[in-house]
Amino acid sequence: MNGTNDGRSPEDSASEADETTDGPRRPIVVQEGNTLHTRLTRELGVHYPFVSAGMGFVALPPLVIAVSEAGGIGMLGAAPEPAPFLRARLQAIQAGTKRPYGVNFIVASANGQDFTTREHIDTCIAERVPVVSFHWDTPPAEWVKALKAAGTRVWMQVPSVEAARKALDWGADGLIAQGHQAGGHNRSTVPTLKLVRDIRSFAREVMLLAAGGIADGFSAARALHHGADGVWVGTRLVASVEAHAHPGYKQRLVEGDAGDSDVTTLFGPEWPGARIRVLRNRVVREWAGREDRIPTPPPPPERIGTTKLFPGVTGGDAPYPMPKFCAFIPTPGTEGDLEEMCLPASGASMARIEGVQPAGQIVVEMMERAHRVLTNPHGLDSDAEEDDRG
Ligand SMILES: Cc1cc2nc3c(=O)[nH]c(=O)nc-3n(C[C@H](O)[C@H](O)[C@H](O)COP(=O)(O)O)c2cc1C
Repeated sequence: MNGTNDGRSPEDSASEADETTDGPRRPIVVQEGNTLHTRLTRELGVHYPFVSAGMGFVALPPLVIAVSEAGGIGMLGAAPEPAPFLRARLQAIQAGTKRPYGVNFIVASANGQDFTTREHIDTCIAERVPVVSFHWDTPPAEWVKALKAAGTRVWMQVPSVEAARKALDWGADGLIAQGHQAGGHNRSTVPTLKLVRDIRSFAREVMLLAAGGIADGFSAARALHHGADGVWVGTRLVASVEAHAHPGYKQRLVEGDAGDSDVTTLFGPEWPGARIRVLRNRVVREWAGREDRIPTPPPPPERIGTTKLFPGVTGGDAPYPMPKFCAFIPTPGTEGDLEEMCLPASGASMARIEGVQPAGQIVVEMMERAHRVLTNPHGLDSDAEEDDRG
């Protein structure tokens, strides 16, 4: 895809402009040759300041490899993969790319079970994973310490300034500012660009990514212009060839628009009560405003389909009967009615998606366009074009 990307670390000759301590509105992007160099590209030695969001079930090795090979950083969505399956996934990634990649974990528990355990962390340490990112609750301090001691960079996705301060206190090397537009599990009430600026105003030197509503070159350029060192992209990459998502789900993202997502707590016998931004399909419309009044047992149908939780891993292919309001995302192996299912998505991102493309092409096109926009950065200062509808 990206013929000029040799994956080597950018030259040390990067301009000092992005190390400035001037106000947060000042662009920290440094453009060299045909690429964008930021704190992220220098720290990780990658070509583009682009990271694919860790997305459970969807961001499996093919997507991670495609993004890393294109010059970004692919992030495996590990939740809720048992540790032995995680090891198999990591080995698949290592066989597919020699470039930096990461693993994302959700720190939470439900029905008496922790989604992420010390065994997961030890697996990442043993496999020398370059970046581990966490989402939702704060991970135990000893995990962070052990990962950092092993040379792994630790990032935390945060929904607020308070959470950002806390993450820095426990030693995060990088932050992902998750704005309220972001698809998927999301506790943020702050628009993406505002959160980026607010965090940048006190965390001048920290590696900061912007997440939520970034799905084309313009939105990527704007996030960099407002102080991010890179973009963290979810919904756009679900609509990629390599994403492990059901074709009907991908198509709905192409057809969806800015006003077509909602935040709900509807889904999740597997993770009750968690706020998630999803595409507004039939079941979301039907229960809007009544999410806390679902009777026990829930109304029929008892089952909305079947899926395979850990495809491609020995022992992971057993069919999983999906209960009503199942939180699991439809993948190519899922059978059933997608209008009953949980389809994480950002409206702001869907408004910018025009088709299902190879992930590498998405990375390169977004970044090259961002580069062009940043060479003539008109209209990037204001939030006016930021679509707050999600
Ligand atoms: C399908 C899907 C699954 C997601 N799963 C996870 C996950 O497992 N872990 C996580 O940290 N974030 C997850 N997210 C949220 C992303 O990390 C990120 O905040 C979001 O995708 C950014 O907004 P965007 O969708 O507009 O790009 C998910 C998002 C989507 C769309």
